[in-house]
Formats: sequence, structure tokens, C-alpha cells
Amino acid sequence: MSIEIAPSILSANFSNLMQDINKVKDSGIHMLHVDVMDGHFVPNITFGSKMIADLHKSTSLKLDCHLMIDNPDKFAPEFAKAGGDVIMVHLEASVHIYRVLQEIKNFGAKAGLVLNPGTPVDAAREVLPLVDQVLIMTVNPGFGGQKFIPQMVNKVQELAELRDNLGLKFNIEVDGGINDITIKDCAAAGANIFVAGSYVFDASDPISQVNKLLAAVGQ
Ligand code: DX5
Ligand code: ZN
Repeated sequence: MSIEIAPSILSANFSNLMQDINKVKDSGIHMLHVDVMDGHFVPNITFGSKMIADLHKSTSLKLDCHLMIDNPDKFAPEFAKAGGDVIMVHLEASVHIYRVLQEIKNFGAKAGLVLNPGTPVDAAREVLPLVDQVLIMTVNPGFGGQKFIPQMVNKVQELAELRDNLGLKFNIEVDGGINDITIKDCAAAGANIFVAGSYVFDASDPISQVNKLLAAVGQ
């Protein structure tokens, strides 16, 4: 599985977003991680599907959309229509997770499932054959700059083993507290897509931060 770094624009300057995206786009990345928060599912508010539509017009980078919202069953298709390449829904927020994942795929996007730190891998088992990607939260969702939860490394490993046992091929992504140390443990456990917000955008040279992450996993 290819190794990807997905810089999270949550830590970029929203009033000058394209400037920050341009600072990182020539680092060999292929995707941006876009955090949608509604102030209900998580205690923070960011933006809605218009942001995805506008980014889709302004950059050729793939848009990895992390929906931290209530009622994703209603809103997820809107984000696929807006041009999101991967639409990721929290298992904890969805009533009909099987249906919403099918709908995302029907709109031509890739379907992703997200698990909060307290949600066991087993809870995802029935929908794993449908998904292109599973995102393991390595912090409580809602804010950038939080500390990595080390127990999540075992969870990544458990998911990777289950994937291999079931003969499936989905990507495993980790999100929260990823830096040049924590990325190594996550990669060794089986993750291949790494979201990094503050580690990339809080630094004066975002490209060198991406390079440090890639180097840490032997790329
Ligand atoms: C947190 C978001 C993350 C956030 C990660 O709820 O899902 O994508 O941007 O930020 P860092 O990398 O700073 O932990
Ligand atoms: Zn995220």
C-alpha cells in the first residue's frame, strides 16, 4: 500500500488558505485532509461542503474529507457531490452506516469509516468489505495539536490483522498527534496514510516537515 502524508488544513490559516496549501503542495503529497466539524458531534466548528467545492476548483490535490458531524447519513452525499475524493464518516455518528457508505460510493467518491479512540475495531467488522479506507483516530476528534494516544497503535495493528485475515485491501489512516516519532509506530502497526496538521503547518517550513515524516517511515 502506498505511503501518503495528508496535511490537515485545520492547522492552516483559514484567511489565507491557498497560500498555506501552496507552501506544502510541492512536497510530493497527493492529498489534503479536510476536517468538517459541526459543533455538535465535536465541540468545534469549521466549515461545510462549499469549502470542499471551492478547494476542488482551486487545487488538483485529492480531498480527504473527515466529517465530524451529526447526521452524516443526510450530509455525506453533499460532500461527495462537492468534489470530495474520499468521504469519511464516523461510525459513532451514523444510524445507517452501511447505507451511507454505499451512497458515498454511488456518488463516485471513495468511502471511509472513522473510529473514535473508544470504539473497538470489532464494531466496524460488518462494513469493512465496503470501505476504501478506515481512519483510526489517535486523539479525541475536535482539535489540532493534541497528544497522541499510544494505545491506538495496538488498535491499528488489530485492524491490519483483521483486514489481512478477511482478504481485504482498504487503506489504514491515522489522525491526531502524528509527528516524526509517532508516525513510526503507526507505520509499523500497519497504517499507510498519515494525517498531520500542527506538525506541518505550525512550522516555518512545511515542506521540510513533510519530508521529515516521509523519512521517518523510510520514504
Ligand atoms: C482532529 C482532526 C485532525 C487534526 C489533527 O479532530 O481530525 O485532522 O487536524 O491535528 P494534529 O496533527 O495537530 O494532531
Ligand atoms: Zn481529521
